[in-house]
Amino acid sequence: MSAYLERMKKKAAGFGGRELLILGIESSCDETACAVLRGTRILSNKIASQIEIHKRFGGVVPEIASRNHVLAIDNLVKEALKEAGAEQEELDAIGVTFGAGLLGALLVGESYAKAFAYALDKPLYAVNHIRGHIAVNYIASPELEPPFVCLIASGGHTAVAYVRAHDEVEIMGSTQDDACGEAFDKVARVLGLPYPGGPQIEKLALSGSPSIALPVPFKGSDTLDFSFSGIKTAVINYVNMLKMKGNVLPAADIAASFQELVTDIMCDRLMRASAARGCDKVVIAGGVGANKCLRAKVAREAERRGIKAFYPPISLCTDNGVMIAAQTLSMIKAGRECADFDLDADADLRIE
Ligand code: KG4
Ligand code: ZN
Repeated sequence: MSAYLERMKKKAAGFGGRELLILGIESSCDETACAVLRGTRILSNKIASQIEIHKRFGGVVPEIASRNHVLAIDNLVKEALKEAGAEQEELDAIGVTFGAGLLGALLVGESYAKAFAYALDKPLYAVNHIRGHIAVNYIASPELEPPFVCLIASGGHTAVAYVRAHDEVEIMGSTQDDACGEAFDKVARVLGLPYPGGPQIEKLALSGSPSIALPVPFKGSDTLDFSFSGIKTAVINYVNMLKMKGNVLPAADIAASFQELVTDIMCDRLMRASAARGCDKVVIAGGVGANKCLRAKVAREAERRGIKAFYPPISLCTDNGVMIAAQTLSMIKAGRECADFDLDADADLRIE
């Protein structure tokens, strides 16, 4: 153990019950983001989105993402501190995403956070990105406490999990192929919509009707797993068939049918998982959680079952710094150790 880590452990031991000032740094994909929390209060939340840069490639180009993180990160951290009205020396802890995500992109945030923590002699926490998506719910709904069942729905992950305690997560079911966000993005691309596809599909679906039959994965099974690649392929085949025949593409109906089925599946898994655990709270986490059709279905179904549904405001569903600061707080509450400078990035970090 380095002398730094030894000092930081002592600092962390003195955190006690006071409201901590935490800086969260996120750079796992195409958003450079950072935020400052005082306890569960958001003091600032800054995001430098690269969506416009990657749009013309139809998806995120890893090397370009890394380079733009390098350009953005220092100013963004300074802006976040300024907006929070906080001096960097006042920070109690720094949290940074160390996985999962694009390796080069992760390394930018991590290297910056290490240098920052070293210069300020502050404890550094290595945050699991997906755990951050879950933890942001503690900030959005401070009354929320585990245990609960959580639907994790992002661009890279889809799972339903039992959250037993702060920072204690058990996967009950997960995707066997594509993540749901990935499926949204791929279907959008086939329909000629720009990246990221999720919000575009949602918008287009408003003017369509879910009238096109798509294959239901695991039909008749009581699995809590997911599969989206069959649905995606069915959409691609349907679109190609219509194009070959020279027919007009009913793009809005396709978007509505796809969204209807995928949100039905996610809502079904979440509700059955909560019933299996006798849990009276369900939670949504991740970028696809911004989908209003999904949110409405989960809210309706929760009400019907007499359980409570929680989801973050739309702005905190997609990647942000608040979620990383939130998970840092959860780790501190759970007594997790801070990181040493040999911390590595883990592109394939698991949720559990
Ligand atoms: O959690 P996130 O911001 O990044 C990852 O950790 O992957 O999720 C991004 C994903 C993208 O696939 C995007 O298309 C999807 O979330 N997404 C949506 C919506 N907003 C973002 N999907 C459906 N409806 C939305 N409104
Ligand atoms: Zn994410």
